[in-house]
Amino acid sequence: MVITPEIPLKDLASSNASAHVLEDYRFDYCCGGQQSLAEACRSAGHDLQQVMIALDAALALGDTQPVAPTRTLAELIAFIVDTHHAFTRAELPRIQDLVEKVTAHHGERHPELNVVRDAFLALQAELVPHLMKEERILFPYILDFERHRQGESPSPPAACFGSIENPLQQMLSEHEAAGSLLKQLRRLTNDFEAPTDACTTYRSTYRALEALERDLMRHINLENNILFPAARALAADAG
Ligand SMILES: [Fe+2]
Ligand SMILES: [Fe+2]
Repeated sequence: MVITPEIPLKDLASSNASAHVLEDYRFDYCCGGQQSLAEACRSAGHDLQQVMIALDAALALGDTQPVAPTRTLAELIAFIVDTHHAFTRAELPRIQDLVEKVTAHHGERHPELNVVRDAFLALQAELVPHLMKEERILFPYILDFERHRQGESPSPPAACFGSIENPLQQMLSEHEAAGSLLKQLRRLTNDFEAPTDACTTYRSTYRALEALERDLMRHINLENNILFPAARALAADAG
């Protein structure tokens, strides 16, 4: 991969080494994946040359495996569900317990915790039905399209929602909503930095929120920048 100022963030997010650098600089490479590196640096106030040097070094030395080492959309979907949906489903109730506990104990002294809890609960309410819609409606539909292309079914799948663009747009707008709640959480928690007097549970809660953010960035990147464009191309091919 050649690093240029014009390269879109989504291309940089396609390999582990460069995705890590984007995460270190806190670039939004999933919903903001169309942005060029130069634009992203300008709006975040980062030095473009410095970021390009970090990316070159990471690609020369780091893990340049693709973020989703899969050949077919069926494999990519299985990877997303088994890795990212499973992680989100396991973490949401665990973090909810932590957030409720910390807010009950320290909410009076640290009133920002009440707002953090509300933002987390809004994120959870957004994500739970979102995962279900992908697994029950969109992903099976994409798998049917792939089977049709492979000659395993004579006609393209029929759907009650019209064009594939409708569920894709719906999922994209839900990703935007989740992304803006994650940004809110990062701001409210001072970049997930617990105050100096914070107890262990308080610190664990912030660490868990940051890990959830990181996983969701990778998850949404795979959907927005790899799976959905491929599904759109499949549907266009099928006419
Ligand atoms: Fe997903
Ligand atoms: Fe999604």
